[in-house]
Amino acid sequence: MYKIKRISHVGLTVPDVEANVDFYENIVGLEISARVDGAAFLRCNEDHHCLALYPGETRGLHHLGLEVHDQEALQVAHKELLKSGVTPETHEYVEPGHGEARFYRDPDGHLIELSYGMETVSAPLKPREIRPLQYGHITIMTIDLARALEFYVGVLGFRISDTVDGAVAWLRCNQEHHGVAFLSSNLNKVNHYAYDLTGWEDMKRLCDHLWRNNVPIIYGPSRHGPGNNLFIYIPDPAGNIVEMTTELAQIWDEESYQYLNWDNSPGTVDIWRGLSQPDYMLAGDGRDPNDWSAGSAVIGQGWYVPEFEEFVAMDPDAKVIAPTAMSPELCIEIPQFTLGFDNPLDHVKAMVSSERRYPTGRGLSVAADIAVEVNGTDPNPFGADPDDPRLASGSIGLIDDSTGVVINFEISNGRVLALREVFRVTTPAGDTGAILPMADPTHLDLEIDPGSWHRYEIRYSPGDDNWLRPGPDSVQWLVDNQIVHEVNWVATVDPPGSPIIKPARFRVNLSIFTLLDDLPDGRGGTLDGLDPDYENTTFGQGVTARWRNVEVLEFGQQRHLE
Ligand SMILES: [Fe+2]
Ligand SMILES: [Fe+2]
Repeated sequence: MYKIKRISHVGLTVPDVEANVDFYENIVGLEISARVDGAAFLRCNEDHHCLALYPGETRGLHHLGLEVHDQEALQVAHKELLKSGVTPETHEYVEPGHGEARFYRDPDGHLIELSYGMETVSAPLKPREIRPLQYGHITIMTIDLARALEFYVGVLGFRISDTVDGAVAWLRCNQEHHGVAFLSSNLNKVNHYAYDLTGWEDMKRLCDHLWRNNVPIIYGPSRHGPGNNLFIYIPDPAGNIVEMTTELAQIWDEESYQYLNWDNSPGTVDIWRGLSQPDYMLAGDGRDPNDWSAGSAVIGQGWYVPEFEEFVAMDPDAKVIAPTAMSPELCIEIPQFTLGFDNPLDHVKAMVSSERRYPTGRGLSVAADIAVEVNGTDPNPFGADPDDPRLASGSIGLIDDSTGVVINFEISNGRVLALREVFRVTTPAGDTGAILPMADPTHLDLEIDPGSWHRYEIRYSPGDDNWLRPGPDSVQWLVDNQIVHEVNWVATVDPPGSPIIKPARFRVNLSIFTLLDDLPDGRGGTLDGLDPDYENTTFGQGVTARWRNVEVLEFGQQRHLE
């Protein structure tokens, strides 16, 4: 029987290679050794790479890199695999840094790369806060554990190091307790993969490094039963779960080693405390897709978290308080404000907006945690109720650049107002003209206490309308992940020439506004004590708005939208 020498590397597809390169270099401590056709190859020691990041629409396993000793071993392995009925795959990608490679599929459809001769890189590695010793292992979820074992043990020659009956199998190809493990599941996907650290001291340093860089530890630190290794788990920007581990058991006695069958209980994987893994981690996701309370985790393709500098206080009296790692809220305090009727900018006292235009082929979602408070201050020249909820709001706005539809979701102390406004479109890039009358504003009588935190979200879907053309669009407003309002409409704007991807922009504002509905001159206004001329009115209220984060995602790339 040929032998697999080791798992030398893992190839992952990620939607944003650069975001992941940044994470793996600066957080995990790897270093680029090559780039080819948009793919990046990273190393942590003299071996050319232990991680290959390939661009792809979604995250997933690109291939699993198994190393054999030499060319002869590769040929023997190839013959035996053919004999076992395994069909070779055509080489579909170029990978630098090692000798000849051959490709196969495991029973779950994962691409297996067998190669030999990993090259070494003699250039010294840069000094870094932390650096793994080597690539560790990979844990894959399989819909048929027995079938996976038939292939990895029966055909590839891995040995069983430990099991949980019918649920988990840890397999080794050398003295490392496991290089690959399989979890029985209803999904075929990577659960997590791991890097070895030199020891507990490095684990401590890494945990400090993670804390300083706002990377959450989603499980651990603790020790596993099977493998006896210390661990923590962290998410990468694509949502992969990365285990950082040390002290993995070594099995040198192949002749007499007897594997254990462990209990299927949390105490098996977390022997220190017996805590269960979070459900999302069991599903192979680095973030709870339904947890909107975490606030500041910066993970997942498509997520956009504005920098502090992007918040602009438009009122010179506004005080902007920067978020910190321990207090990730951005706070804007406005002691008093001026409200003009004719200048819409008067209604926006602080603003964050993205200049990026998002293609909305599969939809777009913008979400923010917002808390708004209005506090009375003196003087209050018009006797307006300082607690009037309509005096301050946070809002999220999405602008469909092709149709000029502006979707506003405004939140005040005590109520939510869902608006759909129509702007006159002058260019496909979204240069909007005059505001046409508002369409179907909807008041939602939700009980929102001043200062309480809520997650507000707009999900915008152009339906099948991938290209700029008339068609059905729809939007949902959500408060705390519950749909509170939905609107459907049909865009009738003709495409201005060659098709372009339908773009959208978003904004999150702290807006100061009143409901302009019943002033005698028809311009509206319902506040007691409002300046009847309503040209330029100073209010005495203090306003504080806080954001914990702003997140933008594209539909179809986040599980919670499935
Ligand atoms: Fe590879
Ligand atoms: Fe693991």
